[in-house]
Amino acid sequence: MSTSNKTFSMIKPGAVHNHHIGHILSKIEDAGFKIAAIKTVRLTPSDAAEFYAEHEGKPFYQELIDFMSSGPIIAMVLLKDNAVADFRKLIGSTDPAQAEEGTIRKLFATSKAHNAVHGSDSDASADRESSFFFSRREWLRVEDATDNGMEY
Ligand code: CMP
Repeated sequence: MSTSNKTFSMIKPGAVHNHHIGHILSKIEDAGFKIAAIKTVRLTPSDAAEFYAEHEGKPFYQELIDFMSSGPIIAMVLLKDNAVADFRKLIGSTDPAQAEEGTIRKLFATSKAHNAVHGSDSDASADRESSFFFSRREWLRVEDATDNGMEY
């Protein structure tokens, strides 16, 4: 089983604050994703800066860091065939105004900056981002599930 069956997601502070956690988790599970790890985390500004280091220097960077450290987030590792691409389809465009009807960002995002959820943009990002938040004891890896004969 390759790592393309895994992605990493966060429910961002705005969606947590607006009580959308349950609705968003339902959309994710209804779309066939299995939640392999999940927890609530409060990022410091330096945690957020490290997580989003690739965006350093962009005009929205400081706003992104401030927002992502403004309140708790829900961090998750999600399993499904073709997880990265399928999850990005489920969440929709970064800008909710451009997101397709029915996508998580269309339903719950309020702006490009406050866009409800994060989804990894590649398998390499999914690996890095999952490891950023979860130790091996907290994370049911795809390999573990397969070795144990579990379907996911
Ligand atoms: P995310 O998927 O978490 O990855 C990077 C984040 O940067 C993105 O979601 C948005 O929240 C934010 N972002 C990207 N482009 C812009 C922009 N033009 N203006 C404000 N925020 C942005």
